[in-house]
Amino acid sequence: MKWPSPAGPFQAPPVSAYTSLEARLHDAFWADEGEPAELALMAEVLRDHPGPALEVGSGSGRLLLPLLQKGHEVEGLELSAEMLAMCRESASALGLDPVLYEADMLTFEPGKTYAALLLPAFTLQLAPDPAAALEHFHRLLRPGGVIYLSVFIPLAELHGELPEGEWYDDHRTRLPDGRSAAVETRHRLDRKSRILDREHRYSLFDAGGGLLDEHTSRQTLRWFTPRQLRGLLAKAGFKPLHAVADFDAEIPVDDEAQIITVVACRD
Ligand SMILES: C[S@@+](CC[C@H](N)C(=O)[O-])C[C@H]1O[C@@H](n2cnc3c(N)ncnc32)[C@H](O)[C@@H]1O
Repeated sequence: MKWPSPAGPFQAPPVSAYTSLEARLHDAFWADEGEPAELALMAEVLRDHPGPALEVGSGSGRLLLPLLQKGHEVEGLELSAEMLAMCRESASALGLDPVLYEADMLTFEPGKTYAALLLPAFTLQLAPDPAAALEHFHRLLRPGGVIYLSVFIPLAELHGELPEGEWYDDHRTRLPDGRSAAVETRHRLDRKSRILDREHRYSLFDAGGGLLDEHTSRQTLRWFTPRQLRGLLAKAGFKPLHAVADFDAEIPVDDEAQIITVVACRD
């Protein structure tokens, strides 16, 4: 099948929607990964920088709610009404009442400043202009405040281990109620502009394997080399405090790193 390019090769939708099956299956796919690797890193940042914090792109509360359960003071900012509704429902089942804002991270004006901003799970890469986003985040932090972010480099796509322009099985999982879900992905790379354009086709099946529902989403992600990320942070007025690769403090951040997590301080 030909890759659709109705408005030019890399003209993706302005925002990543996280609606329909993409929202409803979000937690089920993540659950297969086990205990979220980022949780301990985020909790450490909140412990070292107490005060109000904000998770940007807090989604279904996968990370926000465990942080609240640990007693951290974190609010959530999310664009997708469906993800927010899921978060509120899960929070209420846990007896939590989080402060959540439905807004765009690029224009969000809370009327106050934070001690820490958290952007786990590659959310910065969804920003159409990550440099402008970082400059905006700088304004949301109080002096001495920190930003935590994780980004990934699409090594499998870059090395041709995943076929460009073709659908491939990305993930399958069985839901607790016996139904099952699958996501297939196809991608295109713009190596020069460092843009990964991805489509995800989500399918929900009944216990007998019959198709119940389907949804396709499209997502545009920017990626950065470690040097570019340092440059972006410096330009926005951040000084890196520390960085780890692949969520492992023992792995140095070099050109082989697939996931880079940085904690940087507002100048
Ligand atoms: C990769 S998901 C991560 C969700 C959550 N942080 C987690 O780890 O489970 C990215 C989230 O960012 C949200 N998002 C994307 N663009 C956004 C924007 N411009 N403003 C606010 N949230 C946004 C998406 O709706 C989605 O819930």
